[in-house]
Amino acid sequence: MRAFKTPVSTFVARRNALHATIRTPALLAAGALRARNYPANGYPFRASSHFLYLVGAALPSAVLWLSDGKSTLFIEPEEPGADLWDGPKPSFDSLRETLGMDQVRDLSELESAIEAQRNSIATLPTQDAASCELLSRCLGRQIQPGSGASLKDGAPDAALADAMIALRLRHDDAALEQLRWAASVTAQAHLAGMRATRTARSETEIFGAMMGVLRTAGHEDSFGPIVSKNGEVLHNIRHDNALADGDLVLADVGGETPEGWAGDITRVWPVSGTFSPTQRAIYDVVLAAQCKAIERVRIGVRYRDIHETAKRVMVQGVRDLGIFRGEVDGLLERGAAAIFFPHGIGHLLGLDVHDMEDLGDRAGYAAGRTRSKAFGDCYLRLDRDLEPRMAVTIEPGFYQVPAILASPAYTAAVGNDLRRDVLAKYADVRGIRIEDDVVVTQGDPEVLTKEVPKTAEEVEAIVQSGR
Ligand code: GLY
Ligand code: MN
Ligand code: MN
Repeated sequence: MRAFKTPVSTFVARRNALHATIRTPALLAAGALRARNYPANGYPFRASSHFLYLVGAALPSAVLWLSDGKSTLFIEPEEPGADLWDGPKPSFDSLRETLGMDQVRDLSELESAIEAQRNSIATLPTQDAASCELLSRCLGRQIQPGSGASLKDGAPDAALADAMIALRLRHDDAALEQLRWAASVTAQAHLAGMRATRTARSETEIFGAMMGVLRTAGHEDSFGPIVSKNGEVLHNIRHDNALADGDLVLADVGGETPEGWAGDITRVWPVSGTFSPTQRAIYDVVLAAQCKAIERVRIGVRYRDIHETAKRVMVQGVRDLGIFRGEVDGLLERGAAAIFFPHGIGHLLGLDVHDMEDLGDRAGYAAGRTRSKAFGDCYLRLDRDLEPRMAVTIEPGFYQVPAILASPAYTAAVGNDLRRDVLAKYADVRGIRIEDDVVVTQGDPEVLTKEVPKTAEEVEAIVQSGR
């Protein structure tokens, strides 16, 4: 498969756009290598997404300094003898050229270089302790590892966060190219997983087939892959169960391009190659909700309303199967949707699979909007009016979560209108989610992940073709 590389001019343009909007200098850390029990054995390095967006290279411990319209990269110099183990590093001059920087300097000079402006420098939330320590020293204030919950309106850090959000919400052409590539490789991984299923005896074998496609294309994972027959465990990252005919496999797997852009697809398929009638009935309800929701991914539509659309289709469908009794409006008011669909309809997608969640709800929620307190709706990660070039996921699901079904806190309001006798017939449905990546355009929604089919018949045919 073809590989895509963003030209340096794009990174220069992104930095210039940021320079034009920020009023204070900014210091952004790439993040530090994490040791795997001992320092010489590091985990694969993944730089901060803000750094990747502006620099395009994963340079451990590097820091980007933006001031007076100039971009300077501070990096660790090559340690004597390190090239024996790691090969030669590019020189400062060649990095300056390939990354389009005004200057590349030794990290040891950072503190003194920025000292005069120390009290007016903004930075962004950083996850690792070593980078926080460096930033704390340089900025003369305590920077704690953590999320954007600590960003205070009106403070320079919040203004920098808002400037980054304004840039990263609407993807430029190069970002869309990366997202299309991530989506395409991710789709191929799902097709491989489906095809591997008839001869696989365990979740691990399907997982391996999917990872093989990602790694062959040079992609990492954009999050901990979920490949499980226990689809009701929402973030189940174990995949060590044996599989048998009658099981469904839920695969929520995403690739990440070498520049860091994420794919995120969920498909569900039957191990036998054929959905049981009960599995098929629920699958079609989830699919109807997903298709109806995707159809609404258009400029100006409030994302929360898409979530509400999906809830309504789900509750209507489940009621039509006899699992709920009563009027759809009343069921929705009593919180019926969250009994089986306890999460949000999706999230922003970009360099992070949940894009910019390091900034808390600042990116996902428009000013003045806050999370609902209601169970289910409280997990909605995005409540903005959609704008062109935004990328979002659409991922409704149906799950039989024992902890929900056994709890009066979640089910009492629906009472006997939840027909447990009917639900018992659907015991072979543990979890079904269908997820696509969608870009808002001037016209119809662009479904980046359409290479992997999702009607029950299409999915069955692909699984059966893997014999
Ligand atoms: N893979 C996590 C999610 O779909 O949000
Ligand atoms: Mn997903
Ligand atoms: Mn997702």
